[in-house]
Amino acid sequence: MKKKWWQESVVYQIYPRSFQDSNGDGIGDLQGIIKRLDYLNYLGIDVIWLSPVYESPQADNGYDISNYYEIAPEFGSMKDMEQLIEEAGKREIKIVMDLVVNHTSDEHPWFQEAKKGKTNQFYDYYVWRDGTPAELPNQLKSSFGGSAWEWCEEAGQYYLHLYSKRQPDLNWENREMRQEIYKMMNWWLDKGIGGFRMDVIDKIGKIPDKLIVANGPKLHDYIKEMNTEVLCRRDVLTVGESWAATTENAKQYSNLDGSELSMVFQFEHIKLDKEEGKAKWELGELDFIKLKEVLSKWQCELDSRGWNSLFWNNHDVPRIVSRWGDDGRYRKECAKMFATYLHGMQGTPYIYQGEEIGMTNVRFDEIEDYRDIETLNLYREYQALGWSHDKIMRSVYAKGRDNARTPMQWNDTRNAGFTEGCPWLKLNQNYLTVHVQENVEDAHSILQHYRRLIWLRRESKWKDVMVYGNYEPFFEKDADVFAYKREKGGKGMFVIGNFHETRRTVELPISVSDILLSNYEDSCVREGKVTLRPYETLLFGMES
Ligand code: NOJ
Repeated sequence: MKKKWWQESVVYQIYPRSFQDSNGDGIGDLQGIIKRLDYLNYLGIDVIWLSPVYESPQADNGYDISNYYEIAPEFGSMKDMEQLIEEAGKREIKIVMDLVVNHTSDEHPWFQEAKKGKTNQFYDYYVWRDGTPAELPNQLKSSFGGSAWEWCEEAGQYYLHLYSKRQPDLNWENREMRQEIYKMMNWWLDKGIGGFRMDVIDKIGKIPDKLIVANGPKLHDYIKEMNTEVLCRRDVLTVGESWAATTENAKQYSNLDGSELSMVFQFEHIKLDKEEGKAKWELGELDFIKLKEVLSKWQCELDSRGWNSLFWNNHDVPRIVSRWGDDGRYRKECAKMFATYLHGMQGTPYIYQGEEIGMTNVRFDEIEDYRDIETLNLYREYQALGWSHDKIMRSVYAKGRDNARTPMQWNDTRNAGFTEGCPWLKLNQNYLTVHVQENVEDAHSILQHYRRLIWLRRESKWKDVMVYGNYEPFFEKDADVFAYKREKGGKGMFVIGNFHETRRTVELPISVSDILLSNYEDSCVREGKVTLRPYETLLFGMES
């Protein structure tokens, strides 16, 4: 395949509500992002994935869109958006918009019309089924708790919502509706954006009557159609979110003939601390051997057949240093370890805001301090099931989405420099020590570690092997150590690290030379052996 710009890019995800407020209303906004572009340029990223900023009642923080052609006033105006695209462009940064087309807001004019009933021209844009207020069409569940069906008095029918009842599902069987979506996508691309992150794209081919939600039979037909109508004429990055992706269908999504998407954002590794068949809130342990197996599987299977996206964090999952690392004594070492493992792999790395300074999960005592619709719904649901407050809170602390959504920590002044007003969600109080300014000033900070990884990938002589090199795992059955080798055109890279706190001395399986990056200031590599201190991770470069 011809090389693509997005294969060599590093993406930074911004959750606009929590990034930078510029007008004191306590909510991050577009002017705030513009103000921080120089920081992102300093970090070295190429692309910003912007979580939704469209007009929305904000039932799910913007993932419930009421107008695809307008910006929500709390985020700014269309002029601000144009300015952001332009200012980012000056710094060679592209803006990738979040495309939420599995559902709209219940306040979208299409839904307002549709619910008038069968004779309305928009009725069929949504998924309606017969029933009575007492009898649901079937047992489909919403991801945010409860039934996926909501009774609509006005229509005298049920509508489908795989998320909250404020997010009715669109009916992708409807050709006219699909054309409206393609028109809107083209409109945004004409504005100069660099592509789309596609929200829960694997659900657009659902067949509710057969209880098929993800990976429906027509899913790839719709994506191919979208490609023909919109994407094939543009040189853009497209990334489809899929919690149900397998390496098999990922090869289809990101196939080399370019007939679908650039890559898929899949969660097989992220789901590993949840037991199969159990709910998100029932906590499980991470199986480290399995984690290595899954990461390596995706690396090997997609090599030369598709393209991986690489991530540990986003706005829906807890912070990785708290989740699978140590966010106390070894916070810095852990954050750097996760970064090295990820950026050393083949694929496009994604950094979620705050990850680059090692931001951690948060623990509020009261449920009233939380804002996330999923967390609030589930709190009620589990309370009704008899769970105690403490038990539910343990799950919220471990898995709740607000862990990732606390405001960005810029400095140690009031509200961490995020807002002059009252923040929409409380800050993590560790902002007094964990913040951007401290990371900029410290030569050994987590931020500098990320900068170095990005520089290696984008500009160094290791670029080719880091981006395109093949992948071979080592220490697959070791309880603490994970290592892999990358190779291309006479150059190699070797990553080896200790995932735990126990010190380990192991024999190096290959002969290594230069240490390109480490999360300790010195190293213990001697006579073919390496001693790895807690979470110590080394990245070697090799030239033949
Ligand atoms: C996935 C998004 O990332 C999440 O934040 C949202 O709640 C659901 N899709 C519904 O749009």
